[in-house]
Amino acid sequence: MKILITAGPTRESIDPVRYLSNRSSGKMGYALAEAAAQAGHHALLISGPTSLDVPEGVDFLSVETAAEMHAAVANHLRKMDAAIFAAAVADYTPASPAQQKIKKADATLSLELVKTKDILGAARHEIGFTGILVGFAAETENLLANAQRKLKAKHCDLIVANDVSRSDIGFDSSNNEVTLVFPDHTEFFPRNLKQKLACHLVHWLEEKSQILAEKNP
Ligand code: PMT
Repeated sequence: MKILITAGPTRESIDPVRYLSNRSSGKMGYALAEAAAQAGHHALLISGPTSLDVPEGVDFLSVETAAEMHAAVANHLRKMDAAIFAAAVADYTPASPAQQKIKKADATLSLELVKTKDILGAARHEIGFTGILVGFAAETENLLANAQRKLKAKHCDLIVANDVSRSDIGFDSSNNEVTLVFPDHTEFFPRNLKQKLACHLVHWLEEKSQILAEKNP
């Protein structure tokens, strides 16, 4: 299978020196790309800035901003059999990044932020992706309800929901613990190495792809 994977944070410029970002290290997405390549699939990893080495045998595209990630995904997604959106894409970006470094002046500084493109949300109806679509949900409360809402709203086949209020899983951790939210059931994946979860997800993609192939010979 040809699998597109997004990973890492994005960086949204405030001025030439400063940016908004988040705690994503890229470990989850890179583990997915590595597991896909090791299972013999063609993996395209589209990643925000991380300090990780690109896994062996993986095609790699480096992006910085949410807009760049959207453009890269829109450019490649339709050619893929499956996609896993593990990136922590900024939901908002400064409306007008300053051309020069903002000087320290007043006691407070206000920034107007505008929404970025919801790339996962655009996959089906704007980009026209028809393959197996897996999203993540980074939640701090109401994990199941929020994940089920995203599953429906973004027309996914699976949402991988993780509680990112915990320090022992999720952002920048070597481990993750997730609830796999399918249209008709959920599965709990207990805390384990991200590499283990990645292999589990790649194996599920393979099974799903097999079922689809048998349904539409
Ligand atoms: O990178 P690590 O340090 O290993 O941490 C892993 C992780 C916590 C980042 C990962 O497990 C995870 O939860 N990734 C999703 C983070 C996120 O942005 O979740 P969300 O619930 O805000 O977004 C929902 C889905 O929409 C995600 O698939 C996200 O990639 C996607 N999205 C979000 C915003 C946006 N503008 N475009 C998107 O495609």
